[in-house]
Amino acid sequence: MTRRKSLFWICILFGLGYFAGWMNTIKPQYLRVNKQQIDQTLTTQNKNNLKPNPPECKQLSKLLTLIPKRFKDDDIIKVFKKTEKCTWFSNSAAHTNFRAQLTNCCNAIQNFTVTQVNTALGANLTYDAQPKKKITITENIFNLLPQTEPFKVPISKRCAVVGNGGILTNSSCGEEIDQADFVFRCNLAPIIGREDDVGSKTDLVTANPSIFSIKYQNLNFRRKPFWESTQVYGKALILLPAFAYSAHTNMVFKVSYTLEDFGSKLQPIYLNPSYMVNITQFWKSVGVTETRLSSGLIVLSAALELCDEVWLYGFWPFSKNMEGMKIFNHYYDNIPPKRSAHVMPREFYRLLQLHTKGILKLRAGKCKNKPTDI
Ligand SMILES: *[C@@H]1O[C@H](CO)[C@@H](O)[C@H](O)[C@H]1NC(C)=O
Ligand SMILES: *[C@@H]1O[C@H](CO)[C@@H](O)[C@H](O)[C@H]1NC(C)=O
Ligand SMILES: *[C@@H]1O[C@H](CO)[C@@H](O)[C@H](O)[C@H]1NC(C)=O
Ligand SMILES: *[C@@H]1O[C@H](CO)[C@@H](O)[C@H](O)[C@H]1NC(C)=O
Repeated sequence: MTRRKSLFWICILFGLGYFAGWMNTIKPQYLRVNKQQIDQTLTTQNKNNLKPNPPECKQLSKLLTLIPKRFKDDDIIKVFKKTEKCTWFSNSAAHTNFRAQLTNCCNAIQNFTVTQVNTALGANLTYDAQPKKKITITENIFNLLPQTEPFKVPISKRCAVVGNGGILTNSSCGEEIDQADFVFRCNLAPIIGREDDVGSKTDLVTANPSIFSIKYQNLNFRRKPFWESTQVYGKALILLPAFAYSAHTNMVFKVSYTLEDFGSKLQPIYLNPSYMVNITQFWKSVGVTETRLSSGLIVLSAALELCDEVWLYGFWPFSKNMEGMKIFNHYYDNIPPKRSAHVMPREFYRLLQLHTKGILKLRAGKCKNKPTDI
């Protein structure tokens, strides 16, 4: 009798323990399941007949179709570390699909920048950050515009999009970045002396107006130091946001005239405010809700439409790396991270989803000593 009773209690205890364990695994995830998404991910994974990933990787891509209610740094870093153990495959079907959505909404191929083809002399452009303000394309402005969109499509097989995150410090990613067919860089990021980590090839570099006021006194005094600093980018395209804020327009044109006067080979191009409005809307529709997209996300958008394969570097919104070591805001300074200006964990999570779907490849560790990965 007593033996049967104790057996009963043991069963209850085990049951409770199991239930508690189950509660524990369920609790920290805050997930919403969408069965259709899971099935899709699994079938795309199965199509890869190269080196199949272990079952954990399928579990992971399943987990990543879910949307957490909270985006805790440590949770996301943990998930990312797990994805690093899985082989990344480009999924050209998924990319083609994503690319078609981008072309449909925003058409970077024809409308990424303001050109003489997509913008008429005398047209009025609306500033994307100040929807109530307009600017008329005068003859002077029209003459500054490139005739056509500078990209040939697809511009290249593999593109590297290099963000400025401190995660690039000591990454040894330079060689891999330089092997890309087209390299996007952000905000006139320094290269010299950091080639091992960030490479040197540059095909497009963005320039935020703030850098001209901070570093070059708005080009009101000597302009040569600015021109000299741009020599390192060779004949890359320089992407200037002339039509975001009306206060910046003249400043931006001063940059163009400076480059022209000094015989620079850099080719100024001007971000199309209408493209900005549309691409912001696009990202909002997939859950990236930044009011002003970072320049990294802007060039990434263009790259996803223009390139067959996109590899991302220096996009890492956390103040520590995967080993838990403290990292800085940028690879070229030692300012502690300032969240607001950069890609946020929520946005990073979206990029991670695109990574596991094979639409882009996120790099956030060391590029060397990982021969299986390249
Ligand atoms: C490009 O933008 C112009 C207006 O700026 C628009 O009329 C045209 O339809 C756009 N082209 C495409 C292919 O989206
Ligand atoms: C642009 O705006 C000006 C007035 O601000 C107007 O005279 C002109 O007709 C507009 N141009 C076009 C193409 O609508
Ligand atoms: C980078 O490497 C150098 C030399 O090994 C080391 O002193 C430095 O702390 C490292 N910095 C980061 C942020 O990893
Ligand atoms: C943005 O979308 C609107 C509405 O769909 C369209 O009329 C416009 O041409 C698009 N802008 C660009 C630059 O393609």
